[in-house]
Amino acid sequence: MIQMQPNEQRAFTPLRIGPLTLRNRFIKSATNEGSAKGGTASKRLVQFHEAIAAGGVGMTTVAYCAVAPDGRTFVDQITLDRAQVPHLRVLTEAVHRHNAAASAQITHGGCFTFVPPQDTPRPLSASGGFNKVGIMSGQWRRQAMTSADMERIAGEFVRGAQLAREAGFDAVEIHMGHGYLLSQFLSPLYNRRRDAYGGDVRGRARYPVQVLERVLEAVGKDMAVVCKISVTEGTRGGNSAEDGAEIARLLEAAGAHLLVLSAGLNIESITTMFGSSFPKENRTQVGNPIVALAMLIQQFTEPKNVQFHELYQLENSRKARAATRMPLAYLGGVKSLANVGQLMAEGFDAITLGRVLIHQADFVDALASGRIQTSGCTSCNRCVAMMYTPGGTSCVLGTPGDAVLNATPAAS
Ligand SMILES: Cc1cc2nc3c(=O)[nH]c(=O)nc-3n(C[C@H](O)[C@H](O)[C@H](O)COP(=O)(O)O)c2cc1C
Ligand code: SF4
Repeated sequence: MIQMQPNEQRAFTPLRIGPLTLRNRFIKSATNEGSAKGGTASKRLVQFHEAIAAGGVGMTTVAYCAVAPDGRTFVDQITLDRAQVPHLRVLTEAVHRHNAAASAQITHGGCFTFVPPQDTPRPLSASGGFNKVGIMSGQWRRQAMTSADMERIAGEFVRGAQLAREAGFDAVEIHMGHGYLLSQFLSPLYNRRRDAYGGDVRGRARYPVQVLERVLEAVGKDMAVVCKISVTEGTRGGNSAEDGAEIARLLEAAGAHLLVLSAGLNIESITTMFGSSFPKENRTQVGNPIVALAMLIQQFTEPKNVQFHELYQLENSRKARAATRMPLAYLGGVKSLANVGQLMAEGFDAITLGRVLIHQADFVDALASGRIQTSGCTSCNRCVAMMYTPGGTSCVLGTPGDAVLNATPAAS
């Protein structure tokens, strides 16, 4: 390892999160790999995460594992059922061979879905009414969850976490951000309930907190239980950074082992999530006309020409840092060793990385050895459209994923 400033060096020291100790403080953020055709984890998904584990991270996160078929946003996403366990076990064993940990992002899309509902007439959400994503999915209305729905889906999160444990994962990341079901409960834009699960932030957080408590009770002694939240929704009428700090405080009180601090909502504020606008090329790159339409609409509704800058969520995330004492993982625009040092100096406990690891799987080792100081990722966002290509998510500056491996089940 090269000579580093003490703060930079700290990022390479172990971190304890609940029952799990990570070898260092770098975590691969969930980035839909487009590598689960028909819902089955593929050999290419294993290859992708193995390369990232071999490249030095403390933990890699497998994106979007739906806790039920109705919880998928697209058909080609993993559903955590018993049939997936052998495939996911191949992945966790590959990650463990390189002494990294594996986390499964467990989630339910609620009304943010392109999959027709199976158990209910309309997609479920915190409240009923017009469903914005219905412009693309054709499912124009959403349905308010009853207490029976809430009980059933909380049970699905528990079962999903238990299956993840069986598949050898070291952690689960409950997705409470970006506009998926639990985020729909947290958001005043989606949650208009008049019962104990609506109203102020505390009321809106009640159901996500209950889901966390159930998952902690079921697996929290064996696995780290992480929550991913949007610290700000970045749109008028949505949660502000002050609301985000309060949500972080409530999750800390409920016993979450680590929070990953993301931002934005898929429909209303994708630019907040990525810190910059999406290029027009992304639309032509996707084969799926519904997704291409979604991208076109987004181009009209999102702020124009937002320019990327490093650590673009720092100001909002500082509020969550000031409100809590628990382990927090910063996310958004980390590009360099200097960024890492700054985040450690500001009191964040871990560094979450998305695009830089899609660009270069061994980014962490390259920083440690002094081979690079800064990522070559240009933050162009073109990898986002790559998730719909036959080879799966990859950097446009590198080699595309292997389409054959991407269509081959991991355990075959
Ligand atoms: C191709 C791609 C796919 C993504 N898919 C997911 C996802 O499935 N779940 C999720 O929580 N975030 C997803 N994200 C968002 C990232 O986790 C992260 O919030 C974002 O890339 C900003 O971090 P960065 O600046 O380190 O890239 C995705 C990002 C990219 C680039
Ligand atoms: S396509 Fe490559 S360079 Fe562009 S944002 Fe994605 S990883 Fe970075």
